[in-house]
Amino acid sequence: MKIAVLKEGADGERRVAATPETVKKFTSLGADLAVETGAGAAASITDQAYADAGATVADRAAVLAGADIVLGVQGPEPASLAGMKPGAWLVAGLNPFGERARVDGYAAAGIEALAMEFMPRITRAQSMDILSSQSNLSGYKAVLDAAGEYGRAFPMMMTAAGTVSAAKVFVMGVGVAGLQAIATARRLGAQVSATDVRSATKEQIQSLGAKPIFVENVKGIEGEGSGGYATEMSAEYQAAQAELVSAHIAKQDIVITTALIPGRPAPRLISDAQIATMRAGSVIVDLAVEQGGNVEGAVAGQVVERHGVKIVGHRNVPSRLAADASALFARNLFNFLSAFWNKEAGRPVLDAEIGDAVRLTQGGKVVNERLLGV
Ligand code: NAI
Repeated sequence: MKIAVLKEGADGERRVAATPETVKKFTSLGADLAVETGAGAAASITDQAYADAGATVADRAAVLAGADIVLGVQGPEPASLAGMKPGAWLVAGLNPFGERARVDGYAAAGIEALAMEFMPRITRAQSMDILSSQSNLSGYKAVLDAAGEYGRAFPMMMTAAGTVSAAKVFVMGVGVAGLQAIATARRLGAQVSATDVRSATKEQIQSLGAKPIFVENVKGIEGEGSGGYATEMSAEYQAAQAELVSAHIAKQDIVITTALIPGRPAPRLISDAQIATMRAGSVIVDLAVEQGGNVEGAVAGQVVERHGVKIVGHRNVPSRLAADASALFARNLFNFLSAFWNKEAGRPVLDAEIGDAVRLTQGGKVVNERLLGV
């Protein structure tokens, strides 16, 4: 049983799908690990550290040769997997909706592609959930990025020279990233408020010491929503939300937006006209910028200024914390594969509930029902 770990090829991707810790753990299950040269360099993990953990370090062709499972952070170009044996697994964040042509390429190459972001949101899969582990770090980093761009302080400070008032931070979208953003902004001493369409988040916001700001006159999504996910809201709800946001946002110094709808473009939550009402020097961080953006005028990969307000649109925010993001991502992969490890077979054997959810391609075809007909 050979497991290959790829060096990421995507622009700006600093993460790696295995760490010396997970190399050791896979080895103790009986697997042979082969890590591509330089795979961990951008996440501060040397080739020597992988070798010390028991892996072979070699070039792409050598790590792919004979591999039964190939681990990645992002899905590689199918052409870069030449030499991978048919039926071998590719396990990574494959962005199945955004990178459909690649998925077709994996099918054509006979690869069995498993998309970690399709992991079902069930209790036993929590430790395998890359969306949660990476979003949590994004939420933290978004607040630090905002603080870095902000020309004022976050906490209230009473000094001999006078008082500095606390920053007002508004978090829009209270999933995993939003909750961590609230907690981080609170730790920095900001006054925090937050909103979401799912009513279950109201209590979560309060329990972190922040103020919930909710649309009251139109019904949102009851409880957690389906699988913890939101859906697109009615025109009536969107209008009520826009009115609520307009009244609130003019008084905020920092806004962090994280709202996503699976398989759909991100909902537009802040208009240019609303940005114009904010005080000069305010900062907006749009964590949804790569999915179309929550904020009008946000540009992926850039910090832009509109009406004196900075709009931060960093791409791939977890990669900005590459060492921790890799450690958690690698554990997600290990938790997934080890949970299904079959001792007799000497390899993982998936069950239907999780296997059918994450498997995109098999036997030369696209088989995932979320992709069929898309
Ligand atoms: P997400 O990344 O898909 O969306 C972020 C947030 O944006 C969500 O809270 C969503 O309700 C909100 N949102 C969407 N449209 C909006 C709009 N128009 N206005 C305001 N907010 C909007 O969600 P994420 O962070 O992946 O997870 C959401 C929830 O899923 C978690 O809070 C948790 O309850 C649940 N979950 C369960 C897991 C498990 O059981 N294995 C693992 C991870 C999350």
